[in-house]
Amino acid sequence: MSRVYTVAVVGGGIGRSHIVEGYEPNKDKYKVIAICDLDPGRRNGLADEFGIERRIENFDDLLKMDDLDIIDICTPPMVHYPMVMAALRAGKHVICEKPLVGSLAEVDEVIAEEKKSKGKLMPVFQYRFGNGIQQVKRVIDAGLAGKPYVGTVETLWRRGPDYYSVPWRGKWKTELGGVLMTHAIHPHDIFTYLMGEPKALFGRVATRVNTIEVEDCISASVEMASGALASFTATLGSADEISRIRLAFENVTIESDHEAYNPGKAIWKILPRNDATKAAIETLLAGWVDVPSRFTTQMRLFWDALEGLGPMPVTSADSRRALEIVTAFYHSSETREEVSFPVGPEHPKYHSWLPEGFA
Ligand SMILES: NC(=O)c1ccc[n+]([C@@H]2O[C@H](COP(=O)([O-])OP(=O)(O)OC[C@H]3O[C@@H](n4cnc5c(N)ncnc54)[C@H](O)[C@@H]3O)[C@@H](O)[C@H]2O)c1
Repeated sequence: MSRVYTVAVVGGGIGRSHIVEGYEPNKDKYKVIAICDLDPGRRNGLADEFGIERRIENFDDLLKMDDLDIIDICTPPMVHYPMVMAALRAGKHVICEKPLVGSLAEVDEVIAEEKKSKGKLMPVFQYRFGNGIQQVKRVIDAGLAGKPYVGTVETLWRRGPDYYSVPWRGKWKTELGGVLMTHAIHPHDIFTYLMGEPKALFGRVATRVNTIEVEDCISASVEMASGALASFTATLGSADEISRIRLAFENVTIESDHEAYNPGKAIWKILPRNDATKAAIETLLAGWVDVPSRFTTQMRLFWDALEGLGPMPVTSADSRRALEIVTAFYHSSETREEVSFPVGPEHPKYHSWLPEGFA
């Protein structure tokens, strides 16, 4: 019998998807024993729906539960930092939704706290998991794609007044950013997961779709450490919603599936330049074992990592890279200057990427 870790889900919005896609299909590995939400409707609704014993209003009560292994933080962005720090200090394992925290300074504090804690931390980037993206990852990691030339990342989604009627959304102090920080963070993470570290970025952000404080259109020109060049585009005003990643390598051209909220699931186009590459890819992918998409696999791999059976599927360093891109983007857009990576403590936006007056 494998070990079953006990879980508290904090925040019943996307937290419900963590239960449905992450914990229910992995019932031999996890048991959700508590649901914590300030909203009694959400709290009781989820507890009733999934037969969860403990209905908790106050987050701090979770820290005192000796039989609780994992705190899964699915609250709005502005409360991630204090919750992650408190949970690590209490020695709990932590899962946290994106954005992990609200600045590079905070992410560096979290990384330092994680080193001291007996708990392990896994940020959420569930778009990395599914057959399409994992096959491509295998091809690139095996060296079959060859030298990366260029890539494009398009996050063309749609959000309107209904979405922004939730009070924390659309505001710098609570959402901490717009399409760049909240939405395109997933496709940008997919891109760096496959293509490596960025070296420099020139970005622009604009608010053109909704009446909100934060941006809802972005575009950037990116140079990667490999020398490859990339362009990132995102909007929340697209009539037709897609996520699309297209990568041109020496030996292959790769294109993601376009399913906006699960681009990693369906098989991606891998177009080989010649028959030898085609044959090598077929051999590599022969006997492919199904990789369920999104939270199902991310939570399963987290269990493996806790049991010492594999690496952490998403790390705080991955979150740091994602938040470096966010920081660089906002700074570049404000100053009209290119930003070089890594972005460290000397950078003017290290302590906050929020515009002046909101920080
Ligand atoms: N990975 C993804 O694809 C994905 C998708 C949606 C949202 N998110 C992220 O998940 C987080 C939550 O987003 P959402 O859309 O679910 O928001 P939401 O507003 O629908 O749900 C958040 C819930 O947290 C509760 N809450 C707020 N403060 C709390 C506190 N101090 N203690 C306990 N409960 C508290 C609220 O009552 C609410 O029910 C955000 O960081 C968002 O960016 C990620």
